[in-house]
Amino acid sequence: MVSTRTATADDAATLATLAAATFALACPPGTAPEHIDAFIAEHFTLDRFTGYLSDHGRALRLLVDDDGTAIGYTMLVFGDPNDPDVLAAVTHRPTAELSKLYVLPASHGAGGARMLMEATLDDARSRGARSVWLGVNQQNARAIRFYGKSGFEVVGTKTFLVGPERHDDFVMERMSERGPIG
Ligand SMILES: CC(C)(COP(=O)(O)OP(=O)(O)OC[C@H]1O[C@@H](n2cnc3c(N)ncnc32)[C@H](O)[C@@H]1OP(=O)(O)O)[C@@H](O)C(=O)NCCC(=O)NCCS
Repeated sequence: MVSTRTATADDAATLATLAAATFALACPPGTAPEHIDAFIAEHFTLDRFTGYLSDHGRALRLLVDDDGTAIGYTMLVFGDPNDPDVLAAVTHRPTAELSKLYVLPASHGAGGARMLMEATLDDARSRGARSVWLGVNQQNARAIRFYGKSGFEVVGTKTFLVGPERHDDFVMERMSERGPIG
């Protein structure tokens, strides 16, 4: 039986490993492997996650299986968006970005992502966010379907850089109060 828990300072290495193992899953087909590798090397270091875990403007949550092994994670970033495209598209305040939501492939389709999403929306609401927004690659049909089931709607578009590659994202938003998740 899977469950979720708040990530703690001791989880930095676990999160860095999970992030490195799952990042490519969200990239569109054709993303150059060397750009993915460089992105991982720059962004998913132990130091980076240690910093995230001590940042009061963020909240990280793990999905764990019955023996405690981490199989997925989320990260919320509280506060107004920096990206002008997102700032214009996301209309509710206060808001929080669901900056990361990744589950290992062996656990896709098993309900864990839904549990993780529900707990993460609770985290956002309990910290005062009225809405949650996210960016998702426009070719990531599985994630877009999952977010739609989770009550998110497309409210705009933005771009995301993987090295020199400019990828097209949808911006999706939902109110953070607990509503039905399909
Ligand atoms: C996004 C993610 C957390 C969702 O978790 P999940 O366990 O796969 O989600 P679910 O199986 O509950 O929902 C996925 C839905 O997409 C559907 N789906 C699967 N492949 C699809 C495709 N190619 N096109 C459209 N829908 C697809 C599934 O059938 C399911 O819908 P259903 O419940 O109506 O049948 C998980 O897939 C993941 O970690 N993906 C890789 C990382 C990623 O892309 N993260 C998001 C970054 S923005």
